[in-house]
Amino acid sequence: MTKTTSDSCEHLTVHPPRVTAADRKRLFSQQPFTLWFTGLSGAGKSTLAFSMEKLLIDSGKAAFVLDGDHVRHGLCKGLGFSPEDRSENIRRIAEVARLMNEAGVIALVACISPCHSHRQQAKAIIGDENFIEVYLSTPLSVCESLDVKGLYRKARIGLIPEFTGISAVYEEPDAPSLVLDASQKSISECVQEVANTAERWSRERSDRVL
Ligand code: ADX
Repeated sequence: MTKTTSDSCEHLTVHPPRVTAADRKRLFSQQPFTLWFTGLSGAGKSTLAFSMEKLLIDSGKAAFVLDGDHVRHGLCKGLGFSPEDRSENIRRIAEVARLMNEAGVIALVACISPCHSHRQQAKAIIGDENFIEVYLSTPLSVCESLDVKGLYRKARIGLIPEFTGISAVYEEPDAPSLVLDASQKSISECVQEVANTAERWSRERSDRVL
């Protein structure tokens, strides 16, 4: 028992672990990281995250998807789409991604995370060195015309308030690691580009990921 922290963590004691990051790296034969997919609803984030997860698992890597639509049924149940609720949604997702990385697992996050501040917050929680931002830049006109979930139509007639891209803001990332317009590329091309980006990231840390 070594470290005691203050504020809301007063009277909590952090137990020193006996398993190190190096032990976990050896166990999984990988350096964990978080791929953070941001973009409008219907831009292709989930399709890409789940395809990447399949590729990684098929390559013998440990990976798991944290998807906005999924976590809102459990971990983030009860949170809505106000700026405050989105911020809390993203904070929780980022904390889980960080824990996954600590456990040695690659985290694939698919959530709109519409504001710079959200993604900055996520990056700060996960750690700059483990955070790879992928921006799905599929234009609003395409997401809306496909309207896979039928939500844009409802948002346009006022049935869904604060809908991203319609009645709530989406701020494009300033310097993402990768930008992909899913309406201009096949899913396998997108997966390959994400894999290349992760590979580059891992080479920079002199480790093979894929
Ligand atoms: S985030 O803004 O907090 O990051 P998140 O990715 O978790 O959003 O959830 C987005 C999903 O919730 C969308 O893909 C869509 O299916 C659904 N949704 C429901 N209401 C809204 C809304 N007002 N704005 C955007 N997405 C919404």
